[in-house]
Amino acid sequence: MTFRRSQVAGCGSYLPARVMTNDELAEIVDTSDEWIVARTGIERRHIAADGETTSDLALRASTAALADADVAVDELDMIVLATATPDETFPATATAVQARLGMTRGFAFDVHAVCSGFVYAMAVADNFLRLRQADTALVIGAETFSRILDWSDRATCVLFGDGAGAVVLRSAEGDGGAGDRGILATRLHADGRKHDMLYVDGGPSSTRTTGHLRMRGKEVFRHAVVNLSSVVGETLADAGLTTDDIDWLVPHQANRRILDSTARKIGLPPERVIVTVQDHANTSAASVPLALDAATADGRIKPGDLVLMEAMGGGFTWGACLARW
Ligand code: COA
Repeated sequence: MTFRRSQVAGCGSYLPARVMTNDELAEIVDTSDEWIVARTGIERRHIAADGETTSDLALRASTAALADADVAVDELDMIVLATATPDETFPATATAVQARLGMTRGFAFDVHAVCSGFVYAMAVADNFLRLRQADTALVIGAETFSRILDWSDRATCVLFGDGAGAVVLRSAEGDGGAGDRGILATRLHADGRKHDMLYVDGGPSSTRTTGHLRMRGKEVFRHAVVNLSSVVGETLADAGLTTDDIDWLVPHQANRRILDSTARKIGLPPERVIVTVQDHANTSAASVPLALDAATADGRIKPGDLVLMEAMGGGFTWGACLARW
């Protein structure tokens, strides 16, 4: 019997040209390069130019992913774009990307799960492909978090950056075993009771403003390590695999200490974890596809490798996606 899988056909990413260092931040708020590096591992981040929107970043990442996959725009059946910083309240930023790619068929929509957005979007696209409602999907994570930061709050503004990453998924037949190439398992979770730990204090229906990001950092940290290590275990178990089988963990890049603690808790050696947080900071839904693109481009992730993506974000939301490359 054959089994339908969603295979990763290609990756792409884009970072705005402007790089902001920790020393530059120290000119804006009472902080230092030493504090930021020691507590987070972040050394620099990219910041979108005035007028440069989430769809601008997404379009560039998408064009690169389509070229990498050797897939033409008219082969795409769907676009799912994960973002918490859409160009406009509506329509979906995915439809802006659709129009600018010149895609005139299929469907396009946004997924909003903040930093878990890309993992949510992968799970959604995988389900469409496996249910035969689409054959080829463009999955994007794109953010301009610089627009929702309170640049006077040193506890949050030092942590985030802007960017976009994308993957093209194509359906293929496998035998249903863990050796199949493609997505092997996805797991999603949410716990809306944790709203106050990480949220934006604005929105069209509440304050009619965009608002700013607010966070209780210590509590987010503690929940992240517990939730991420447990969802990694669930996802591996769904595929009948263990930590020893993982070639690469591609975590959401929030904080070096969260990455290290989670890898330690699941018993994975640090050399099998893809880390980009030093260069990108936390780019929310863009962080996992940015890290995927970096690690496929430099040859670390190779066809046949078992790759586990995981993320946690506001909501709380969290999840994981296990794929054989
Ligand atoms: N520069 C210098 N000092 C800072 C600072 C900064 N950028 N931000 C906070 N501080 C200060 C605090 O004011 C506090 O000072 P006090 O002791 O005089 O009150 C001190 O540093 C310690 O703050 P605390 O919040 O306890 O630090 P921490 O060790 O928890 O580190 C985070 C703070 C934000 C780095 C950490 O909690 C974290 O990474 N949390 C997870 C955040 C995250 O990843 N969110 C996104 C998830 S998707």
